[in-house]
Amino acid sequence: MKDASRTPPPLRDPSFRRSAALLRAFLNEQEDPEHCYTLLARDAADQVQRYVPLKDRVVVDVGGGTGYFAREFRRRGAETYLFEPDPRALTPAGHRPPEGSVLADGYLLPLADGAADVCFSSNVLEHVADPQTFLSEMVRVTRPGGLIYVSFTNWFSPWGGHEWAPWHYLGADRGRRRFERRTGRSAKHTVGENLFPIHVGTTLRQVREREDVAVVSARARYWPLLPSLPPRIPVLREFVTWNLLLILRRCP
Ligand SMILES: C[S@@+](CC[C@H](N)C(=O)[O-])C[C@H]1O[C@@H](n2cnc3c(N)ncnc32)[C@H](O)[C@@H]1O
Repeated sequence: MKDASRTPPPLRDPSFRRSAALLRAFLNEQEDPEHCYTLLARDAADQVQRYVPLKDRVVVDVGGGTGYFAREFRRRGAETYLFEPDPRALTPAGHRPPEGSVLADGYLLPLADGAADVCFSSNVLEHVADPQTFLSEMVRVTRPGGLIYVSFTNWFSPWGGHEWAPWHYLGADRGRRRFERRTGRSAKHTVGENLFPIHVGTTLRQVREREDVAVVSARARYWPLLPSLPPRIPVLREFVTWNLLLILRRCP
């Protein structure tokens, strides 16, 4: 008999099996968010663990939402803290925030310099108006030699407009209006309010210019093969990377 509580073995990254499983879970996110975010959290924790063991390390999840990632880090033995400014995201109906949750903004984390071994942020950068300041705060709270994991969906990604993708290719206002007309629902995201166009090339350049971090890896987060290739190809990278994952090391 199958043991439902057993954690399945990690999916090899990169691989077509992993990408297909993530895509299936994402397409089914509305019906089964639990499965989607549990899978994504396990996948991200596996990615972090490739660079640093998690047991007994201090992990900070910035913009952690409902806490799937924080719970997964904690399950793997990390002392985990989640910072989230939106109380509705932190405690949706029927959910209790995970242990170590703090209502706080990522621009101003209530943490001492160098407090974290790992500073983690998944899919938040495109939701802040000033991603470089947000990133600076992540760097500040990471100890020298510590790891920073930051990923985001860039604007020209097929998912750049979020719920109104791919109509964002028509422009932010037209795309949003088209979504509302076709579905009869209000869009969750508005450009300039809670969604900001962010680009792969510009972000890579800005991060490489920084003296306080070294880029360990820049890759297409969900790609099934050669994930480091798409972010290297000017122009094309804006359309095919889909979601850029940066692994950075805090310089001593
Ligand atoms: C798309 S959700 C991502 C949630 C989770 N990290 C994930 O990957 O599933 C974006 C999150 O960023 C949060 N956020 C927006 N602005 C923020 C800020 N200034 N500081 C920290 N989090 C922020 C939102 O409240 C929201 O929970």
